[in-house]
Amino acid sequence: MYPETRFRRLRRGVLRDLFTETRLNAEDFIMPIFFDETAKERSQINSMPGQFRYPLREAGSLAKELAAEGVRSVILFGIPSEKDECASGAFAENGVIQTAVCEMKKTAPALVVITDVCACEYTSHGHCGIISKTCDGPDLDNDKSLELIGKIAVSHAKAGADIVAPSCMLDGMISFIRKKLDEAGFSNTPIMSYSSKFASALYGPFREAADSGFSFGDRKTYQMNPANAREAFRESEEDVSEGADILMVKPATFYLDVVADVKSLGLPVAAYHVSGEYSMIKAAAINGWIDEKKIVLEAMTSIKRAGADLIITYYTRDLVGWLK
Ligand code: PBG
Ligand code: ZN
Repeated sequence: MYPETRFRRLRRGVLRDLFTETRLNAEDFIMPIFFDETAKERSQINSMPGQFRYPLREAGSLAKELAAEGVRSVILFGIPSEKDECASGAFAENGVIQTAVCEMKKTAPALVVITDVCACEYTSHGHCGIISKTCDGPDLDNDKSLELIGKIAVSHAKAGADIVAPSCMLDGMISFIRKKLDEAGFSNTPIMSYSSKFASALYGPFREAADSGFSFGDRKTYQMNPANAREAFRESEEDVSEGADILMVKPATFYLDVVADVKSLGLPVAAYHVSGEYSMIKAAAINGWIDEKKIVLEAMTSIKRAGADLIITYYTRDLVGWLK
């Protein structure tokens, strides 16, 4: 107790840094990348200044560039040339992601390539799986969609993905994908589950980036209610029991309590600092209202302090440079 206890003793001068509880490392960060199957040139995403959609032909050179900068991992999203009701482009052998993975691993074998496993960028209706009619109108059909999601995951593993990351929030998706991967000979491919993905307004800019807006309804029959932390814990527990290797909380900064809760399950935890979180900081930075670097470092520190082992963020390239 004061006056024996003086917290300020360890906050002074050269001592301060010595007692840093949470340190960021370049390896903590995963860079999301968008590949556009029809694009010839890279194009900047309006709502996400500094972020691009890349043409497939840049996959190899981009991988090399990222690895040289010190980026350890990427997570890939694809924009296919064609969409249909059943997302055929998502599991095509020479589909946009399958091609991108293959090219990236060929030129930069040490880069960890993670793939987002979902159907929404590939379906004409924009939902994350197969739609069936119900008495409340059309809705995502859980059990029919599992088959599709399983096929997508296996096709990514075949293409050489290091980790698959299902983001569709279907019940039973982890055990289903685990079984399909094992049957196809990929028992060593880890699953990073988007285990608590909230129906968040923060995904707005991403939907422009990935061209994955939907033609009817919303994602509320499968993504979680932002008010529900206990449910997030149960969802994550379920994914552990189904065989997930890594859990994920998404978005990140508005959900730090969930990150801390989920951490107690013992698996590695990833947190996704999503498009809206990026765009809000970027917009304020462009206007000169905030110090971008300081804000980003503080945001990332808060996510790691809450318990995240890995952080998916569009700021990865900046962070890797700043942390050198
Ligand atoms: C699609 C998916 C989304 C994001 C990642 N995968 C959007 C959504 O559910 O609509 C969001 C990423 C971001 O906002 O940065 N399953
Ligand atoms: Zn989806």
